[in-house]
Amino acid sequence: MKNKLIKNICCIGAGYVGGPTMSVIALNCPNLRVDVVDIDKEKIEAWNTNDLSKLPVFEPGLEKLIKKCRGINLFFSNNVEENIAKADIIFISVNTPTKKKGIGAGFASDLKWIESSARQIAKFAKGHTIVVEKSTLPVKTAETIKVILNSSDQNPSGNNGNKNKTFSIVSNPEFLAEGSAINDLQYPDRVLIGGEDDNSIKLVKDIYMKWVDQSKIITTNLWSSELSKLVANAFLAQRISSINSISAICESTGANISEVAKAIGTDKRIGSEFLNPGPGFGGSCFKKDILNLVYLCNYYGLKEVADYWEKVVSINLWQQNRISSLVIINLFGTLSDKKLAIFGFSFKANTNDTRESPSINISKNLLKEGAKLNFYDPKVNKKQILSEFNTESNVSICNSAIKAAEGADAVLVLTEWKEFKALDWKNIFQVMRKPAWIFDARIILDKSLLEDIGFKVWSLGSS
Ligand code: NAD
Ligand code: UGA
Repeated sequence: MKNKLIKNICCIGAGYVGGPTMSVIALNCPNLRVDVVDIDKEKIEAWNTNDLSKLPVFEPGLEKLIKKCRGINLFFSNNVEENIAKADIIFISVNTPTKKKGIGAGFASDLKWIESSARQIAKFAKGHTIVVEKSTLPVKTAETIKVILNSSDQNPSGNNGNKNKTFSIVSNPEFLAEGSAINDLQYPDRVLIGGEDDNSIKLVKDIYMKWVDQSKIITTNLWSSELSKLVANAFLAQRISSINSISAICESTGANISEVAKAIGTDKRIGSEFLNPGPGFGGSCFKKDILNLVYLCNYYGLKEVADYWEKVVSINLWQQNRISSLVIINLFGTLSDKKLAIFGFSFKANTNDTRESPSINISKNLLKEGAKLNFYDPKVNKKQILSEFNTESNVSICNSAIKAAEGADAVLVLTEWKEFKALDWKNIFQVMRKPAWIFDARIILDKSLLEDIGFKVWSLGSS
């Protein structure tokens, strides 16, 4: 398969990874045609919308890329079969959530979307196709994909008049973070490519070399690449759980978590990033990927290693529950018939993604105590917020911060949206019931300024 000319790329899965990643590839590789396909009709319609503010993914800089590339060398469609058939390289970017039932439920990744993608590739691909694992996967998934691709059931020799159907598998995990995805893709710290044959690795590498310096492209064997993705997320999440655990000691001792984070982060060996304390990590991946790692460790008989990593997840939940309890205790031990304003529902700023957002768990704890909740988030719509709760009773969605604060006993800042810093807090104080509380779980507000206005303020990690 040497010197294969790559002309057509297909990406299966038009989600938070598939959409932005392929947009950046299309931008940097004008000679390639990039087709992003998905089984979700509504999502594809949204990717093709003329009103770019309605794209299914909100990411700073994404609209500009779509405007530049869509319809030129970037296409979104539901034509899965047709685009698989003409692709030289297929990226699989489908979802890999935690299994909800059966063996490994609650820990292992559910690979049913990976399996169905592999079966479709086996059936419709033609000639030699490089299949790239872009989704985050358990180590050894490439083995499973290989078996499916080569099974005679899916891939009968001579089917489609194609006797020479062959595949190579490459692992190319994605490290983008939501909210900064376009920048992360355009200027990555590294690109990781794992594979078994040098030629396929080279062909995938050639794509990235159009805009990424060769020194930043790391090549490994398949299993190191698959495992490195899980480990990178585990290490990042571990830092957050570490700093959050220390936030509690700060509250008990008079130390200040922001000062401690700065003091330790200036040590080059520790580094200053990912030391922001908060209401725990959210997002679709940290928890799922660590639990997946935990499952793998147990599978290979490494119980101590599994227990070590599982603690990162349990501290995360503990932090959320701890914050909920502190709110209840400070509001005289009961939330019955009290109104609380929740500022921020996305799992971090600059995204409309709410998967595993700490706001969800904290809000559920407060609802259980009888609170009425008013939500305000600059980017998450009403339908999305309501979908996280079984009931609409005691849940109101507001279109401004001031509306959400009306008559409330407390405001909880759970996402670090920039606009929360610039709110007219004097005005907010006026419309709240007194004593008016602010629980700043992201440490983004000026505590003494708020206290001067008259608020009672709880700020994470200080007394
Ligand atoms: P997502 O849910 O936003 O998108 C996945 C898409 O795949 C969905 O639109 C779904 O309809 C589609 N799909 C599923 N099966 C399909 C099939 N057989 N054919 C066609 N389309 C199909 O998920 P995501 O956030 O983009 O994550 C995708 C993968 O990337 C996951 O493994 C995740 O762990 C990993 N990842 C995510 C991020 C992130 O920031 N979200 C970052 C790095 C890696
Ligand atoms: C994370 C990783 O940063 C990406 O490298 C990875 O590709 C991605 O997961 C993935 O595999 O899905 P993401 O979840 O989009 O990206 O966003 P992060 O910036 O990592 O934030 C995750 C959560 O941790 C958020 O809830 C955020 O508020 C929280 N966080 C982050 C903190 O509480 N403190 C910090 O210092 C940093």
